[in-house]
Amino acid sequence: MSEELIKQAKEKFAVIIEEQLMRVEEMKKGAAWTDFSKLSPIIIGVCFGDGIGEIISKHAETVLSHILKDEVANGKVKFKDIAGLTIENRAAQKKAIPDDVLEEIKSCHVILKGPTTTPQKGDNWPNIESANVAMRRYLDLFANVRPVRIPQEGIDWCFFRENTEGAYVLGSKGFDVTEDLSIDFKVITEQGAERIIRMAFEYAKNNNIDRVTVVTKSNVVKTTDGRFSQVAFRIANEYPGIKLDEWYIDIMTAKLIDPARRKDFKVMVLPNLYGDILTDEAAQMQGGVGTAGSANIGKHWSMFEAIHGSAPRMVKEGRAKFADPCSMIRASAMLLRHIGYPERAEKVEMALEVCGTYEKKMVITGRDSGVTGEEYTQYLLSWVDNPELKTRWGQGVNKS
Ligand code: IPM
Ligand code: MG
Repeated sequence: MSEELIKQAKEKFAVIIEEQLMRVEEMKKGAAWTDFSKLSPIIIGVCFGDGIGEIISKHAETVLSHILKDEVANGKVKFKDIAGLTIENRAAQKKAIPDDVLEEIKSCHVILKGPTTTPQKGDNWPNIESANVAMRRYLDLFANVRPVRIPQEGIDWCFFRENTEGAYVLGSKGFDVTEDLSIDFKVITEQGAERIIRMAFEYAKNNNIDRVTVVTKSNVVKTTDGRFSQVAFRIANEYPGIKLDEWYIDIMTAKLIDPARRKDFKVMVLPNLYGDILTDEAAQMQGGVGTAGSANIGKHWSMFEAIHGSAPRMVKEGRAKFADPCSMIRASAMLLRHIGYPERAEKVEMALEVCGTYEKKMVITGRDSGVTGEEYTQYLLSWVDNPELKTRWGQGVNKS
């Protein structure tokens, strides 16, 4: 009996190894980056998602289309609303991303994506994979870039979370070997580690930052995290002006809330699961996960989203219209920068900071004690268009 089970497990394992080796070969080919300056029109796909996702992505689309109205008018940019990335449709088709939706997504250059519901053990949905995780894998969105800024404290972090490997890439391929033994897998490849680590170093170099921190648990998870760390030290040799230090994930979560040390960190690069956890902690310090945006960058496509989920509890309690759209608006700013409009991205980011940190004429609390997402979006847009924006933002920063 157990011999048969072991044989079956080996067969499953063999398939996994074959798939991962194929992925390595793909990465070795080194695809070219999309050149947005040569695209016309640039197609921005919008997937609205579930729960509060539907509402806050609409607000983000309002901001984006306001900012890009001239480009939309002259045909340089086109918006495409993509229906069907909902839990109901995904459950009905038993697919993380239904085929027709994936085709639509692939026909765009960049995607703005609202949070989608991820089924979990014990809820009523079929056990389909997370749409986020699937999209990152299908589109090879290997870099999850998550900035967190707390200007009053001098904190300006940028997390580079590996997005296609680690504990996630095989997250839905683990299996119960026997009725008592469950096994999951974690994968790190040389190429996968290199591309995210290189991106972190390039970011540091381009922004005159002299320190990159790699976060692992390589003292214990020796093989995969060990490789990630080794690759980081190898790449660091190519950047003589930048110092690399390694921190273990446990002490890193502690240091992030150490007021004496935390602002010294600048650029952090980490395997998938550690990046998932640490960026929620960081976002909470910035004002909540509702304030943080996330870019999922691949060479061909990129996807921009909130770092949080679809908040079914808010919907159930009738609070969806009070959901904070800032995460999706921050993601939109990252999208603008990615497709070649850095000044406009900056405007949105400055307006977010003026409204959320300095002026605070309206506050969003997630309930009726604050304004609605719609009202907040209009407040923000009034600052985006305000000629005093930069001055007001500068005053706020100097005050800190
Ligand atoms: C995130 C989210 C996702 C993840 C979930 C929704 C699957 O937490 O983007 O950080 O774990 O990556
Ligand atoms: Mg997360």
